[in-house]
Amino acid sequence: MRVIIITGASDGIGAEMARQLAQRAAGKIDQDGHLALVLAARNRPMLDAVAAECATYGARTLTVPTDVSDQNQCKQLVQAAADVFGRIDVLVNNAGRSGHALFEDVQDLGWYEEMMRINLWGSVWCTHAALPYLKQTRGSVVAVASLAGLVGVPGRTAYSASKFAMSGFFEALRAEVKSAGVSVTTAYPGVVDTRIRYRGYNAAGGELGSSSLKEDGAMPVAECARLIIEGMEHRKREVVMSAKGKLGRWMKLIAPGLVENMALKAVSEEHRPHS
Ligand SMILES: NC(=O)c1ccc[n+]([C@@H]2O[C@H](COP(=O)([O-])OP(=O)(O)OC[C@H]3O[C@@H](n4cnc5c(N)ncnc54)[C@H](OP(=O)(O)O)[C@@H]3O)[C@@H](O)[C@H]2O)c1
Repeated sequence: MRVIIITGASDGIGAEMARQLAQRAAGKIDQDGHLALVLAARNRPMLDAVAAECATYGARTLTVPTDVSDQNQCKQLVQAAADVFGRIDVLVNNAGRSGHALFEDVQDLGWYEEMMRINLWGSVWCTHAALPYLKQTRGSVVAVASLAGLVGVPGRTAYSASKFAMSGFFEALRAEVKSAGVSVTTAYPGVVDTRIRYRGYNAAGGELGSSSLKEDGAMPVAECARLIIEGMEHRKREVVMSAKGKLGRWMKLIAPGLVENMALKAVSEEHRPHS
């Protein structure tokens, strides 16, 4: 049996990864169940709904209500997976929250810390707890970062910081765990059609409630989930989504001013961030 933990599995990219993994495994079920999905997020009813859908494809499921900004809950999530299924093959660090505000408009930086605890520390804590099990199975870690973790995006100082930090952490870890046979895949999605922007922090630390982007150009969530799963299955180092993202990453080495202007132009086409 293959055991996969996914954080942020109640909605968006994480939920879609769970559904696609279950679909892919359907028909390959052996007596013990070919695939076990351990689904984590805070919203239990939504997690249970995703789990029920995955179960219809024959996957075994375990839902573990978890707030990844709390280290103990990250440890308990990993322990629950190991206790119930006896092994862990993949950890997908996907739970995340966005934020949209100009730095000068932020009075209280408390939510910058909160976001770091979710996006960076949640990933670090889950990975720390899962690594001994992943070494036993020569398994995989997946980190869902963002193109905002490759190129700094104005209006997203907190988010870019958290995603650059993820990128650096997992790049260093990749080299450390290579000899143990554990792969580390970092995914860099661009704009994907989920609710993340509506749920993001505003300047005052509340919920934005609306998106400041033109959502109609967003990548379908099914395509994003598929690309991450393919990267994970092929043990790729990175999955960089969108030609613009790939180009921006390299262009900033030779023409950083140009990339800055492009980022500013993209952001000036958005609404001015509100609090
Ligand atoms: N959508 C995009 O355009 C985009 C682009 C680049 C990168 N990403 C990254 O992709 C990942 C998934 O985002 P998404 O677009 O799927 O967003 P989403 O639809 O808003 O889903 C976010 C998921 O994270 C969970 N989550 C949030 N805070 C959590 C916490 N403290 N503890 C545990 N789970 C938590 C949410 O569940 P609960 O609320 O139930 O806890 C939900 O399941 C994030 O890391 C995000 O930064 C997204």
